[in-house]
Amino acid sequence: MANLISEVLRQGIYTRIIAKRIQFHQEIESTMDEARLLAIKGTDEGTLIVAENQLNSRGRLGRTWRSQPGNIYMSLILYPDTALLPSIGMIASLAVSRSIERTTGIDAELKWPNDIIVNGKKVAGVLIECSLEEAQVRYAVVGIGINITFDPSTYPELSNRATSLNSELGTNLNRAMVLRCVLHEFDNLYQSAQSGILPLEEWKLKMHTLGQVVNVYSGNECYTGVAEDINDYGSLVLRLPNGETGVFSSGDVTLDETGY
Ligand code: BTN
Repeated sequence: MANLISEVLRQGIYTRIIAKRIQFHQEIESTMDEARLLAIKGTDEGTLIVAENQLNSRGRLGRTWRSQPGNIYMSLILYPDTALLPSIGMIASLAVSRSIERTTGIDAELKWPNDIIVNGKKVAGVLIECSLEEAQVRYAVVGIGINITFDPSTYPELSNRATSLNSELGTNLNRAMVLRCVLHEFDNLYQSAQSGILPLEEWKLKMHTLGQVVNVYSGNECYTGVAEDINDYGSLVLRLPNGETGVFSSGDVTLDETGY
């Protein structure tokens, strides 16, 4: 399989912060671990780790993320101001959603907090891990996995919840084009965020979850209500059956009836 990064570089990367340094691994445990080690050493902001395959990749809430060659697996190292930290997931999911729409023409919706959904199934996910010291961000690692060729039918637990861009398109997508687009979109969104401009309205417009009756799993509790809004910090505002609101900064959401 052609080296993904050589292909991306062939077309050029015109970013200011993101991917000024790149590490490519044919196989690695998880790009998150490598990124964390580099972040601790103080590598440049925007450093990108890409792997063709991961042997021990992880998702949100302690879940496993299934990796196979042919997809996009990456982690980015950032040193954001503490105030910007809650918006990093918004930036990452929007960068992926915009890139999918630009390169495939397919609608890519979002499921709170950061899942990217195509035709009702998850096609990409975002994982943010950070280290704080006295309430200051030491570093944040943004992990992104995008299913390009991934075949969810090989995993029964995923087959009706996950999909890939190739299966949705019915053709083979140029994944270097998708990755290149993600890097440029991320760079633009991150620079705007640093100057105080957040894409909250666009994020909310793409947020399939809003207006739906949902179950929110937070800690050991499950809350059912209408997903009414997203506040300025990216938290989900849930209207509970007793009329009160619950505000969730993290958790997992399923739609009440379909369960997706
Ligand atoms: C999720 O939706 O649960 C987040 C999935 C994040 C997966 C990516 S793949 C690249 C990076 N390395 C990992 O081990 N996880 C993230």
